[in-house]
Amino acid sequence: MRTIPTTPDLRNALDNLRKQDKRIGFVPTMGALHEGHRSLVKMSKQQTDVTVVSIFVNPTQFGPNEDFSRYPRTIEADESILIDEEVDFLFLPEVDQIYPAGHSSSIHIGPISSVFEGAIRPGHFDGVAIVVSILFNIVQPNVAFFGQKDAQQLAVIRKLIRDFAFPIDIIASPTIRDENGLALSSRNRYLSENEKNEALAIPTMLFLAKDLLMNGQSPADAKMASTLEFQRLAPNMKLDYLDIVDNETFQPKSSFDNRQNSPSATIIIAARIGATRLIDNLLI
Ligand code: PAF
Repeated sequence: MRTIPTTPDLRNALDNLRKQDKRIGFVPTMGALHEGHRSLVKMSKQQTDVTVVSIFVNPTQFGPNEDFSRYPRTIEADESILIDEEVDFLFLPEVDQIYPAGHSSSIHIGPISSVFEGAIRPGHFDGVAIVVSILFNIVQPNVAFFGQKDAQQLAVIRKLIRDFAFPIDIIASPTIRDENGLALSSRNRYLSENEKNEALAIPTMLFLAKDLLMNGQSPADAKMASTLEFQRLAPNMKLDYLDIVDNETFQPKSSFDNRQNSPSATIIIAARIGATRLIDNLLI
């Protein structure tokens, strides 16, 4: 693996490979890599000729009350995971490579950025949109890989691709769950054993809501029944939201057609246990 800290050096290296008709796969990350990232990298390795991973903790996606400086930075462990996965290039820029002095442009991605995660973290998705656009322009991949776990971020990226006509295919990797069904997340490391057990109410609720919807209940009824069940199973958790939304717009759905062949909706949940906030979702 070659670690490259500057934009011109990465561009040179990738331009040469592009001239040889190599397909470039890109996995953007903020580091603190876990199994979910590994699966994105594995997909890229299988589907493309050259895999580029970036590690950049992006300041513009952190709000004023979110601690950018405390975001976990585990670069040595990350590098050994990427070497193990036989990644070709690690792009490891400092802030000035992404936002050179005087950088002042921004992107407002629209209504999708101000609901659910966007309502709780104002400005977050606009920060994601600008950094991903800059990274796309630097790497110019054929394909980019994102996790389904961050469903709203995935919808924002797909919208970015449509709105700015980026010639890039987006592939989502399915959420990876532990043996009990809890979605893997870098935040799980903060949970005690008891908290982990109580957090299992999250996947239980998602699969319950899915059953109810597939059996013909309306989104409103499925939402009400699964909220009550969640509160019964997890009395110490605080539910931020639980909803059934359109995959593309992330607006709540008032009806659901259970005869469709491909998923059109996502059941989304965010809940807090102790100081830890967890999100999860299920495509239906
Ligand atoms: O999902 C992440 O790790 C980040 O939001 C991303 C897409 C790398 C942008 O900084």
